[in-house]
Amino acid sequence: MNAVDNVDMAAKPGEFICLFGHSGSGKTTFLNLMAGIDLPTSGSIVVDGEPLGDMAEDDRIRLRRETIGMVHQTDFLIEEFTAAENVALPLEARGFPANDALAESAVLLERVGLEGYGGRLPRQLSGGQRQRVGIARALTGGRRILLADEPTGALDSKNAASIFGLLRDLCEEGALVIVASHDPMCREYATRLVEMLDGRVLGSAVLC
Ligand SMILES: Nc1ncnc2c1ncn2[C@@H]1O[C@H](COP(=O)(O)OP(=O)(O)O)[C@@H](O)[C@H]1O
Ligand SMILES: [Mg+2]
Repeated sequence: MNAVDNVDMAAKPGEFICLFGHSGSGKTTFLNLMAGIDLPTSGSIVVDGEPLGDMAEDDRIRLRRETIGMVHQTDFLIEEFTAAENVALPLEARGFPANDALAESAVLLERVGLEGYGGRLPRQLSGGQRQRVGIARALTGGRRILLADEPTGALDSKNAASIFGLLRDLCEEGALVIVASHDPMCREYATRLVEMLDGRVLGSAVLC
C-alpha cells in the first residue's frame, strides 16, 4: 500500500491550504514529499518550476534552507539558546555573520508578535509563544513557503487560534502556507481545504 497515491495539487503564493483528514490519511507523508524530505516512487513535485526529483541532494537541502520552511507539532527549539538565537541559528549555519543573523532574527520575532521576547529561553515562553519562535525560524532567509505539520496539536484552542491567525496573516502577505491538521479550526483560517483519505485527495474546496 502507498502512504500517498495519485495526488495532484497545485498551490500558489497567497494561499493557505489546510490538508485535512484522519490520522494515517497521508498528510505528513504529503508534506514531506512537498518539502523534498521524502521522494516519491512515481510522479513529481515541482517547486518554482523545478522538479525536486531531478535535483541533487545538495540542491534539495538548499531549497529547504532558502525556500521552504517547516513547522511541527513539537517546536524542536534548543533549550539552552534564547529565542533570538534559535531563530538566528539557521542563518548562522548558512554562514551569515552572527550580527546579521541576529538582526534578521529580531525582525522575524517582531513579525510573529514576539517583540521584546528575544532574550528569553524557550522554557520561559508559553506553548503558543514557542510555536511562534518556530514559525519565525522557519521563515529565516526570506523563505516564502511554510509547511506546517499539526502546528497546533499541542496548544489549547486560544493559542491555536492565534497561531492559525498568524499563518493567515503571513499568507495574506504573500507566503504560501500549507498546514496538515486534523483541528477543525484550521478550516476557519484556510483559503482552501484539501481533504485526504487513505493516501488520496478526496476533494478540494476553495473557502475564500
Ligand atoms: N516511516 C513509515 N514507514 C512506513 N509507513 C509509514 C511511515 N510513516 C507513515 N506511514 C504510513 O503511511 C500512511 C500515512 O501516514 P501519515 O502520512 O503519517 O498520515 P497522517 O499524517 O495523515 O496521520 C499511514 O498508513 C502510515 O501508517
Ligand atoms: Mg501526520
